[in-house]
Amino acid sequence: MSLASSPVVAATMKAYRGKLHLPIITVVVCSFAIIALLYTERISSLSSSSIFKFSSCSRRRSAAKSKDKTADQNIYNTEIDDRFDFDPEECNVVNGKWVFNTSIKPLYSDRTCPYLDRQVSCVKNGRPDSDYRHWEWQPEDCTIPRFNPELALKKLRNKRLLFVGDSLQRGQWQSFVCMVESIIPEDKKSMKRGRAHSVFKAKEYNASIEFYWAPFLVESNSDVHIIGDPKKRILKVDSVAKHAKHWLGVDILVFNTYVWWMSGLRLKTLWGSFANGDEGYEALDTPVAYRIGLKTWANWIDSTVNPNHTRVFFTTMSPTHTRSIDWGNKDGLKCFNETKPVMKKKHWGTGSDKQMMSVVADVVGKMKVPVTFINVTQISEYRIDAHSSVYTETGGKLLTEEERADPLHHADCIHWCLPGVPDTWNQIFLAHL
Ligand SMILES: *[C@@H]1O[C@H](CO)[C@@H](O)[C@H](O)[C@H]1NC(C)=O
Ligand SMILES: *[C@@H]1O[C@H](CO)[C@@H](O)[C@H](O)[C@H]1NC(C)=O
Ligand SMILES: *[C@@H]1O[C@H](CO)[C@@H](O)[C@H](O)[C@H]1NC(C)=O
Ligand SMILES: *[C@@H]1O[C@H](CO)[C@@H](O)[C@H](O)[C@H]1NC(C)=O
Ligand SMILES: *[C@@H]1O[C@H](CO)[C@@H](O)[C@H](O)[C@H]1NC(C)=O
Repeated sequence: MSLASSPVVAATMKAYRGKLHLPIITVVVCSFAIIALLYTERISSLSSSSIFKFSSCSRRRSAAKSKDKTADQNIYNTEIDDRFDFDPEECNVVNGKWVFNTSIKPLYSDRTCPYLDRQVSCVKNGRPDSDYRHWEWQPEDCTIPRFNPELALKKLRNKRLLFVGDSLQRGQWQSFVCMVESIIPEDKKSMKRGRAHSVFKAKEYNASIEFYWAPFLVESNSDVHIIGDPKKRILKVDSVAKHAKHWLGVDILVFNTYVWWMSGLRLKTLWGSFANGDEGYEALDTPVAYRIGLKTWANWIDSTVNPNHTRVFFTTMSPTHTRSIDWGNKDGLKCFNETKPVMKKKHWGTGSDKQMMSVVADVVGKMKVPVTFINVTQISEYRIDAHSSVYTETGGKLLTEEERADPLHHADCIHWCLPGVPDTWNQIFLAHL
């Protein structure tokens, strides 16, 4: 089945032409988001060797000097920068702005890092513009240290770091791996890709940076073998053990789950014994199912994880940008052809559901084990320019010229180009580590 022939997509097109009530549009857009995801959830196996040399990777070190001191020393400077040094307790990194600066260079490219999936390798896939790689997130009250690969590896010495979640979490994992791998010699690193579990190792540091695929965190009939039709998916909202046994003994856990829940208003859920088979499901409203699923995950963490040994993080929902009217571009085709971030303060689109956010905050707020949020939602909301768009793949193949010419059907406005926005998520993550 091609995307174009999908009834959901046809409905999406109508939504762009005519007027539909907002909830309907939201459902349709969300369904489309899921459909789009399906065609891109492919785990390709990559070899650990690379034919590229790594010398072309620029290596930025975090500036030792704080902006504060510079400002103090130069009292005649008309633009006094009163932002304080980063302190995870003090600084709310969510308030701030994206600043364009061409001297900012990513630590890697999709040609130098051999571990990137084609899904996110926008330049390799033909993306012509490059401004999206030169924006830096600047919080109002502080500076976040630049991502320092050596510091990251030192923090991970003798440790396992595991990212758990969906393809957006996989992007964050690949971003992290690519930012550190360029300083590791060829024979001192390895990568093993698996269907569910992938492991990157930095041998000299005895460190591993891993990814585990669990798009709902809880179990479902659509985990490893993805079911295309969201209506046929059934979530076992009270079961997490099959996945969670792979999370044992890990030193740093980073979770996410959001977009897979957003396939429609209601989700088919099962709990208790499954002797009745799949017929015993109950359709629950999305936020209700999400709350139960997250509670199951939270109970596993609270009863299994020793906070003296393991740190737990949660990446908040990654915004989707499938309605250009959200940012006032009424002639736009989703995120296609966008080359600048939204500059309006506190911009928030329909792709990020505040009710779902409050469910996460509520469930995590009641946990015994402390969980640190990597709150990426607001900062990423501005970045309509940074998605894979038409410079991606579908069903394992690069988009054809024809598909590219039809962004309404084929632009991916869920996933992010790498290098790109997830590098900033990891910059924030490392600052909290
Ligand atoms: C741009 O980035 C460079 C390198 O980090 C920095 O020295 C410079 O101050 C930045 N410029 C602005 C306008 O922020
Ligand atoms: C290597 O790291 C693992 C955790 O990933 C740890 O259990 C082990 O003790 C470390 N080995 C050494 C020699 O420190
Ligand atoms: C964690 O460490 C503290 C202080 O050493 C100790 O009181 C507490 O019992 C430990 N918690 C667990 C779950 O081991
Ligand atoms: C994309 O943007 C460029 C420059 O802003 C414009 O010339 C072009 O017509 C746009 N393409 C489409 C299909 O909207
Ligand atoms: C993340 O930040 C947004 C504001 O940008 C806030 O509304 C939301 O509650 C935060 N999420 C969590 C889980 O703390």
